[in-house]
Amino acid sequence: MSLLDLAPVIPVVVIDDVETAVPMARALVAGGLPVIEVTLRTEPALEAIGRIAAEVPDAVIGAGTVRTAGDVTASVSAGARFLVSPGATPSLADAMAASGVPFLAGAATASEVMALAERGLKELKFFPAEAAGGVPYLKALAGPLPDVRFCPTGGIRPGTAADYLALPNVGCVGGTWLTPADALATGDWDRVEKLAAEAAALR
Ligand code: 3PG
Repeated sequence: MSLLDLAPVIPVVVIDDVETAVPMARALVAGGLPVIEVTLRTEPALEAIGRIAAEVPDAVIGAGTVRTAGDVTASVSAGARFLVSPGATPSLADAMAASGVPFLAGAATASEVMALAERGLKELKFFPAEAAGGVPYLKALAGPLPDVRFCPTGGIRPGTAADYLALPNVGCVGGTWLTPADALATGDWDRVEKLAAEAAALR
């Protein structure tokens, strides 16, 4: 099954304190969102991925903000089961393709989408979704490039997620709204679970 079809929303998570990783992942899974992207934007990210992989078996844990071949290797070694990148250089696309795990390479223009499609990649991240043109832009891409499906992320909120999910070329959306920094800081796992449950019900 495709990464895009496992859940309607992929929480994009920034982990500042590694101790929050496992309870956060449990809350997301309990709410109905098993696919979790931990971004490589903070120092504890790789350890967080490893802990979730080891302690939350129902989670499908992946690494986001993958920018280099080194990030690819480190993420897979840590336990990431998928990779997400904000954009794609040829060397990064090569490394992700060689990683052995599913991945969503980022694209924001028709040319970028076409360059990745030439490599056989037909499931991509669309980033930064809102800033790049949002729902109308994705609708426009579906005309000439109907065989490519996306996970848009960047600026998507509960009020706009359903509009994206209604598009034929959108499999799921990603966003940070499921795991607000203050909820993680205070350990408000009930709130995270509730946000996840609302998002899981979007489709
Ligand atoms: C991403 O990397 O996908 C974005 O940073 C998502 O962040 P946002 O949901 O806060 O826009």
